[in-house]
Amino acid sequence: MKLSKKLHDALNAQINAEFWSAYLYLSMAVDADAKGLKGFANWFYIQFQEEQDHARILMNYVISRGSEVKLAPIDAVKTSWNSQLEAFKESLDHEREVTAMINNLCELAAADKDHATANMLQWFVDEQVEEEESFSGVVDSLELVGDNKMGIFMLDKEFAARTYTQAAPLAKGE
Ligand code: FEO
Repeated sequence: MKLSKKLHDALNAQINAEFWSAYLYLSMAVDADAKGLKGFANWFYIQFQEEQDHARILMNYVISRGSEVKLAPIDAVKTSWNSQLEAFKESLDHEREVTAMINNLCELAAADKDHATANMLQWFVDEQVEEEESFSGVVDSLELVGDNKMGIFMLDKEFAARTYTQAAPLAKGE
């Protein structure tokens, strides 16, 4: 069974959105790095990697269905944020938009009775719960410390310890 045109186009749009997310977090990493916040930079560099994994999973899937991956230009991103709180709040808003896009994809797959795509998307549904939880956890911590420099310093130390783990579908070779 071929992907419907609507679903195929939406999957390609999602691939682009994941790369845009990667680019956004890379920009946040570079901004934090330039401001001496190495731990925050590390957190965002890892997020940059995770977003590329998300795009890769979708690309692998589109190819496995015998359809074409169409890589579109990636829109420009902001390059500077006034605070880490501002960066994380914008990230959380962005992740909520990504969740809405994933939900829309699920609805398209259901309308097509495309069970394979619905099944593949289930990983993203769960992942978005984790994404929103992780970003909103950082927003909470940043709101708690406010302008307290020691608080920011402690969070920076904590985020320096974040490590990258390849997304499960890629680790399984999917
Ligand atoms: Fe690919 Fe952060 O969602």
